[in-house]
Amino acid sequence: MTAILFSETSPALVKKHLSPDLYQRLRHLKTHSGFTLEKAIRSGIRNPDSSIGIYAGDAESYQVFSPVFDPIIHEYHHFPEGEAHVSDFTVPDLPLMDPEGKYILSTRIRVARNLKDYEFSPQISLSHRKKLEETVIKAMGELKEDLGGEYMSLKNIETNPGQPIKRDILVFTKGDRFQDAAGINSDFPEGRGVFYSLDRQLMVWVNEEDHLRIMSLERSSDLSAVFRRLGRALQVLETRLDFAWDKTYGYLTSCPTNLGTAMRAGVHIRLEKLDRNREILNTLAREYHLQIRGTRGEKTKVEEAVFDVSNSRRLGITETAIIQNLHKGIAALIKAEENL
Ligand code: ARG
Repeated sequence: MTAILFSETSPALVKKHLSPDLYQRLRHLKTHSGFTLEKAIRSGIRNPDSSIGIYAGDAESYQVFSPVFDPIIHEYHHFPEGEAHVSDFTVPDLPLMDPEGKYILSTRIRVARNLKDYEFSPQISLSHRKKLEETVIKAMGELKEDLGGEYMSLKNIETNPGQPIKRDILVFTKGDRFQDAAGINSDFPEGRGVFYSLDRQLMVWVNEEDHLRIMSLERSSDLSAVFRRLGRALQVLETRLDFAWDKTYGYLTSCPTNLGTAMRAGVHIRLEKLDRNREILNTLAREYHLQIRGTRGEKTKVEEAVFDVSNSRRLGITETAIIQNLHKGIAALIKAEENL
C-alpha cells in the first residue's frame, strides 16, 4: 500500500516507517480536531523529494499517530527511546565569536512555539487563526522597553507596499510547496503577521509553519546577547500564552524536525576559503553538529561564500547546550578558515 502512496524513489522517512500494515491500522483514526493520517502525509506524497514528509495537525497527532511519528523522530533526532526532553535557558557568558567582525555578518536564534489549545498550522481554520492572532497580539503587547514594538498584519503589508520596512527581512512569505501540500498556506495571508521591536532585534512571525516563530537577531557575533534577549521575550510571552509541551518531545511543532527545543541558533558567516574546500567544511560540520545551509536559509544556494550555519540538534539537548556547542563549532570553522 505505501509503495502505491509514495514514489518508489522517495527518500522520505515517512515512506520508510509507514508500512502497509501500519497504514491500514492508522488510516481510520482521527484527532479531536479531525486530523487524519492522510492529511499528515499529504506533503510527502505530493513531494517525492521530501526528506521527512509528515506534519502534525495538532498536539494530539503525536499521540494518535505515534506508531509512525515515533520512529521518524528517533531516526531524525537520534533520540533514544524513553528519554525525557529537558529545557534550560541559562545564559552562558560567552566571548564574541568574531571580535574583529571579519567573518560573521549576523547572529540569529529562533524558536518555534504553538499554543496548546489550537490546531497547528496544517489543520487550523480561518476563524481560529484569527482568534489566535488576536490572543498573540495581546500577549506581545506585554513586551516592554527594548523588547517593545509593533505588529503588522501581512494583509496590510501586501496591500500597502509603501510600508517603510524591509520586506525581505521582516516578512515571511507564503510557504513552499512542502508547506503548501501540508495545508499550511490555507487562507494566506489572512491571520498572519509580524511583530518587530523598534530596534528590529526581536521579531515574531505569527501563523507561519508554527503559530509563533520568535527570533532574536543582531548584526554582531554576540551569541550570549542574542540568546539573553530571546529568553527574556519568552519569559514575557509565557505569562500570557500556554505553549504545547510534551515531556518526551519538548515543545511540539507542526514539523517533527523542530521538536524539542524547537530552536535554531546560527550565524551568517563569510568563509571564502572553506567555500573552496567543502570537504573540510562538511567534516567540521559533522563533528560539531552544525547544519550548513545556503545564504537565504532552507533549500537555497550559497551566495558569495556566505553560509547560514546553525545547530543540527534540537531534541534531547538543552537550549544552553545548543548555544555552547554552536560557539565551539563556529570557533572551529573560523580557525580552519584562518589556517587555510
Ligand atoms: N516537509 C519537508 C521535507 O520533508 C521539510 C522538512 C523540514 N523543513 C521544515 N521547514 N519543517 O523535506
